[in-house]
Amino acid sequence: MPITDNGSGQEAADERQMKVSIIGTGYVGLVTGVVLADMGNDVLSCDKDADKVAKLRQGIPPIYEPGVEEILKRTLSDGFFKVTDSVAEATKHGDVVFIAVGTPPGPDGTPDLTAVKAVAHEIAKNIDKYTIVVNKSTVPVGSGDMVENIILEQGVPKSLFDVVSNPEFLREGSAIWDTRNPDRIVIGAKNREAAVRLLELYAPLEAPNIITDLNSAELIKYASNSFLALKISFINAVSRVCELCGADVNDVAKGMGTDQRIGKQFLQAGLGWGGSCFPKDVEGLVKVAQNLGYDFEMLKAAQAVNRDQVCHFMDRVERRLGGFQGKTVALLGLAFKPNTDDIRDAKSLDIIETLLKGGATVRAFDPVAMDNVKEVFPHVNYVDHVYETAEGADCLILVTEWNEFKQLDLDRVGKSMKGKILFDGRRCFSKQVAERAGFDYYTIGS
Ligand code: UDX
Repeated sequence: MPITDNGSGQEAADERQMKVSIIGTGYVGLVTGVVLADMGNDVLSCDKDADKVAKLRQGIPPIYEPGVEEILKRTLSDGFFKVTDSVAEATKHGDVVFIAVGTPPGPDGTPDLTAVKAVAHEIAKNIDKYTIVVNKSTVPVGSGDMVENIILEQGVPKSLFDVVSNPEFLREGSAIWDTRNPDRIVIGAKNREAAVRLLELYAPLEAPNIITDLNSAELIKYASNSFLALKISFINAVSRVCELCGADVNDVAKGMGTDQRIGKQFLQAGLGWGGSCFPKDVEGLVKVAQNLGYDFEMLKAAQAVNRDQVCHFMDRVERRLGGFQGKTVALLGLAFKPNTDDIRDAKSLDIIETLLKGGATVRAFDPVAMDNVKEVFPHVNYVDHVYETAEGADCLILVTEWNEFKQLDLDRVGKSMKGKILFDGRRCFSKQVAERAGFDYYTIGS
């Protein structure tokens, strides 16, 4: 649909408006939905969980993500965003139907496509006009074909739909910004016209686009996330060499990153990568490659470095404390990274497990993720205020680099502690400031 100048902003917006359905209200589905609605599209969001649907209708997002609640409330009251629990209704509504359901790792690490398949079946049963079915979930190569076959097997004529892959690259914590300011829009399709039609939905974002085949688009997502994870594992491996030779990994990363071919981003050494994407997608690509007959050793090495990073860090803590038995250790930050309450594959979980097994008492604070960790580890002392975290502790560990921790008065923190030992897992504090406050300061990569 061309964007024409008809003299009225509202009319232009109406002309641009597309009917969009989004199945799945996780990070990808919900954020994509509210951003597209905020751009003036007629969005129907769908989730089979009746509780989530009821909350969304009241403007309560089922996930913690800065900015989502405000846009959700605005687009609900504008009428651009609606919610249903019926895939049938969603299929009938959308000219474009996004599949954005979870693809969690199965027992052997291969992504579990049960939810994608179920949605494809439901879409097939309810298609009654030409529809572009868009796979936004991260799926192994070949899944676009799989979705197409499921729909064809239900007797839907080929002319009534196209399957398109449109992977999402948003990061938790900055998901709204990332969705509005993508580095690129990737669209994979057999039918180029369908790809171009979907591109019109994103036209207002003015982002570079890559139109390719289905398999390549699916692989772009896995390869991008795996490469970023590889980059972090690389700098973490360099951090180990730095510790052994007395170099400083921050300076090394700065020196490397200034070479534009390498780039500055994702060279922050720390406890390793976690979250819902990198661990799953790296393992997913290893498995995809394995199933195709290729042993992706480079990625397996990145995984091994990542596993070892937190073990090595905790060995250092244990050695410094002379064992964990009877010690009190305080943790600052529990989420897998700042600005999210997501604790999937968070390093805090490994650290708490190591400490509890070793006989330590654990105190912890996180601005938003404590309730989630409480469900996994009920026997940790969770505190309400950041300055209570280290009270009476032998050692303080910075696990997640929330901004509010960077401003902490370390004098005040130190005075509340039994021992003044600070292990900084994210290079969040300055060594000089920590030492001035009387801490024995240890970090990663120097
Ligand atoms: C990632 C991708 O960035 C995003 O494009 C994709 O769509 C989903 O997966 P996300 O998992 O939300 O996003 O977080 P991200 O900011 O990429 O961080 C991932 C992990 O890497 C975190 O555990 C973070 O602490 C770690 N990290 C990141 C580092 O250790 N060092 C860095 O320099 C950057």
